Amino acid sequence: MSDHAPSVAMEAVLKPSDDLPDDMPKIRGYDFNHGVDLQAVLKSYLTTGFQASSLSLAIQQINNMIEKRLEPMEADDGDELKQHSGCTIFLGYTSNLISSGVRESIRYLVEHKMVDAIVTTAGGIEEDLIKCLAHTYLGDFSLSGKELRLKGINRLIGNLLVPNDNYCKFEDWLMPILDQMLLEQNTEGVRWTPSKMIHRLGKEINNTDSVYYWAYKNNIPVFSPALTDGSLGDMIYFHSFKNPGLVLDIVEDIRRLNGLAVFAKKTGMIILGGGLVKHHIANANLMRNGADYAVYVNTGQEFDGSDSGARPDEAISWGKIRADATPVKVYADASLVFPLIVAETFALHFKKLTAEKKAD
Ligand SMILES: NC(=O)c1ccc[n+]([C@@H]2O[C@H](COP(=O)([O-])OP(=O)(O)OC[C@H]3O[C@@H](n4cnc5c(N)ncnc54)[C@H](O)[C@@H]3O)[C@@H](O)[C@H]2O)c1
Repeated sequence: MSDHAPSVAMEAVLKPSDDLPDDMPKIRGYDFNHGVDLQAVLKSYLTTGFQASSLSLAIQQINNMIEKRLEPMEADDGDELKQHSGCTIFLGYTSNLISSGVRESIRYLVEHKMVDAIVTTAGGIEEDLIKCLAHTYLGDFSLSGKELRLKGINRLIGNLLVPNDNYCKFEDWLMPILDQMLLEQNTEGVRWTPSKMIHRLGKEINNTDSVYYWAYKNNIPVFSPALTDGSLGDMIYFHSFKNPGLVLDIVEDIRRLNGLAVFAKKTGMIILGGGLVKHHIANANLMRNGADYAVYVNTGQEFDGSDSGARPDEAISWGKIRADATPVKVYADASLVFPLIVAETFALHFKKLTAEKKAD
């Protein structure tokens, strides 16, 4: 038997490498010998690899949006279609994120005018308003649906619980507002759209915990073209028997949303979750030949051909993200990562961002 390993194996295993660029990041995580410093832990994510690195790149991407946003503005003459920020930021999120405590991170952004337009689904509107009337509770993913139904408790979504009474309170609150909206439609010719209705609901809820109260106060449009797919739709359905005739126009809203993208200097998309919210924002950005910055946070996969799972590269192929952009997708539950993203971006730059707004 030979003393030497076969040369074919030696050459295969010990194949020499080309040199890698000196500036290529080297993998190294956080060393807890430096103490417990969560901000430093997050900084180390860039060189940690996997989704930790993607999270860090998403933070960089949003900080680039913020830097652009802070560039000197043109005078704001009140026309929402005219650019009044160096970067118009579109924020999208699925309903469940408003059901969860991510609502408070979103409310912070809207309260301080850090985003310019919002897209969400019906649950993302009503859950915020219902939370102003009664609480959502932490349950467990494994609670039995049958037993909860007997008690009139809904497993709202995942491990969150909502007593059915909350929806009765919502009905009591909403019905007189729908009556009034119908009256204004019939007597003053108001043409209601989902965004105008959400603006009105934000005014009526008059509660500083609410995302849509702040959207109303700060005149941030909220788009929800499928506004009837939730409890709001149930109420609108019941109302259509009691007091028929209310009309919601989605055509006016698509002009408004697309116009915000078309006339923006630069745009950034921050999209949490998939489905309607992801496509609606990306499609608006197609009208300007693509967003300049984009961050997706979702758990969707592309193998099934779903729009939710499509990577940013698919949006580039459509012209929904610019070809020279450096978009980032983080594969994660947004409830884990979005508060961290806000901490390292908008909240970190709070003073600069809010000083700019005071100059409005
Ligand atoms: N609380 C609720 O979720 C609620 C309440 C009432 C009505 N609805 C209705 O249900 C319909 C479907 O809801 P939807 O379109 O808002 O989204 P969805 O819940 O169907 O999610 C769409 C996709 O987003 C991704 N996603 C969802 N949650 C995520 C998370 N935490 N982190 C990362 N990725 C995530 C997943 O890929 C998912 O397939 C809507 O019409 C909505 O109005 C929902």
